[in-house]
Amino acid sequence: MSANNVNIHTVGGYNFYSFITDGKKYIIGGVPQKYKDDYIAEAEDASAIILLTSKPEFCGGVGDVVANNPDIDVYATSAGLRNIKEIINRDINECLIKDNMEIGGIKFIIAPNLSWVDTVLAMYSGTLFSGELFSGDEEYYNENLAVNRDFVKSAIERVKTLDINSIFPAKGEVCDVATAILQYEAFTAIPEKTKSLLSIVYSSEYGFTRKMAEYAKKILTEDYDVYFTEAAACDMAVVNNSDVLIIGTNTINRNAPQAVWDVITRLDLVNMRQTPYFVFGSFGWAGDGIKLVDKTLQAMGMKQIAKPVEVLFNPSEKDFTQLEKAIAKLKS
Ligand SMILES: Cc1cc2nc3c(=O)[nH]c(=O)nc-3n(C[C@H](O)[C@H](O)[C@H](O)COP(=O)(O)O)c2cc1C
Repeated sequence: MSANNVNIHTVGGYNFYSFITDGKKYIIGGVPQKYKDDYIAEAEDASAIILLTSKPEFCGGVGDVVANNPDIDVYATSAGLRNIKEIINRDINECLIKDNMEIGGIKFIIAPNLSWVDTVLAMYSGTLFSGELFSGDEEYYNENLAVNRDFVKSAIERVKTLDINSIFPAKGEVCDVATAILQYEAFTAIPEKTKSLLSIVYSSEYGFTRKMAEYAKKILTEDYDVYFTEAAACDMAVVNNSDVLIIGTNTINRNAPQAVWDVITRLDLVNMRQTPYFVFGSFGWAGDGIKLVDKTLQAMGMKQIAKPVEVLFNPSEKDFTQLEKAIAKLKS
């Protein structure tokens, strides 16, 4: 298939593109290693390959392309060149892409973190080669790009200023510019908050840790929008949008339960680093689960607001007071 003088090659849902300009054949993008055959064949007589990223699923066959056509130039950003050499472990004819650079009518726009740090957009003949940006639906966006929402938003703003009539993504269908922008603006929209959002996530077998969680909720509801949930039923989209995270955990066999760790392993640490957190819980003999969770969140770069409150079995009035004091540190 071709459009705007560009040949579109689609294999397994992935796209790479080829065209001739100034008498030279260029290949833009790449495909996963398992689809490399068409890619190698198309690049056999090409002068250059332009990598929009070194993320392996979008440059899987590059090592073979270079082996098959050692004279081919490889264009990428500085991070892209650094990565690709370490990925394919062979010498390449390196060509560095800089912002606003132009070769043979192809213009480059450095737009990092879409989704890897090395990404660049390319423009040719009214077409934007957008890489992962504008690839796929909301699910694709959430899985691959949402972690870098601010970068996606600024890339969209930049795209709005470009004189283009179509978008050729790395994955999925060629798309209309206005529709793609509208769709991605909706994906990246930031939910309005009237109050700061605070998540209380807890795990409790006999209800003791739950009692503490409920007490914390009662105190905090006035100042925060409180998302209160059992760890096993936790909606991570809400937790990862929170301004404060509070985890209540019991201790079972010297550990926190799996449901608590499931929440912790799904924390978006790109955006949650430095987020204030606090841990509490009921225990029976040493309370290792509470300590482990606290240490882990600290090691992840989150900001402890108070030392964990560890309560032996059923929380007493004194324990609730201690919990209240710890939570009060949120305000100081
Ligand atoms: C199977 C089992 C294993 C436990 N292992 C530990 C442990 O290793 N360390 C500890 O401090 N408490 C341990 N406990 C005690 C609980 O942490 C304690 O009963 C706590 O009050 C439970 O809080 P919850 O009501 O919020 O579940 C264990 C309890 C059970 C049922």
